[in-house]
Amino acid sequence: MRLNKFLAHAGIASRRKCDDLIRAGLVKVNGKVVDQVGVVIDEQKDKVTFKGKLVKPKRKFIYIVLNKPKGVVTTASDQFNRKTVLDLIAIPERIYPIGRLDYNTTGVLLLTDDGDLAHRLLHPNYKVVKVYRALLNRVIRPIDIHRLQNGVELDGAKTQPCKVTELRIVDNGSLVEIELTEGRNRQVRKMFEALHYKVRELERISFAGIKASGLAPGEWRYLNKSEVALLKEKVGYGSER
Ligand code: URA
Repeated sequence: MRLNKFLAHAGIASRRKCDDLIRAGLVKVNGKVVDQVGVVIDEQKDKVTFKGKLVKPKRKFIYIVLNKPKGVVTTASDQFNRKTVLDLIAIPERIYPIGRLDYNTTGVLLLTDDGDLAHRLLHPNYKVVKVYRALLNRVIRPIDIHRLQNGVELDGAKTQPCKVTELRIVDNGSLVEIELTEGRNRQVRKMFEALHYKVRELERISFAGIKASGLAPGEWRYLNKSEVALLKEKVGYGSER
């Protein structure tokens, strides 16, 4: 890679400006000043410094949204040899899911190799919004909508306040949209079970504002730049990353 491109990718300055910095003798490759432009380096092996400080090559991370189908596990490997979400995404890079969806839950699942971002998106402090649609086995009572919104007791701890809306009735059961800012294990199913409803179908509609519109179950796509920027903004990363 050309030295000016390497420096620009690392966020030093624009390529043009980097050429000026190179001409000014501020850049060294393997300890030697390189003051001519057009030099090509091996970004894996060569040590580049700018004003004496090591310039780290910028890693390009991968961000994917999958419309998870039913009958697929979210873990990387399964003890029963069931199909995993990674079997659906045939790319050479090692990526992993950001959080989990149950075997029979469908919808938005993000995958990445950006460990820091994944960690933050799952951290309760950032209260990342997850929207689900649950089809229940019967019609929901308004009092139960209130109970869910105010928090129900699960495994000894009350759930955080959340938004719950009944959308319509399908086959004698309510289709309910529920917006959570936490991500406890099987939380949606357990919240409804706590009030004696069964969840017949569960789909995640969005995660941190990312949707899978236009993707059939099992299909995936790379996130675009503005979606990645949105994710970073949600967890307090400025333009430093
Ligand atoms: N809540 C659940 O109960 N299941 C999921 O897959 C996701 C959230």
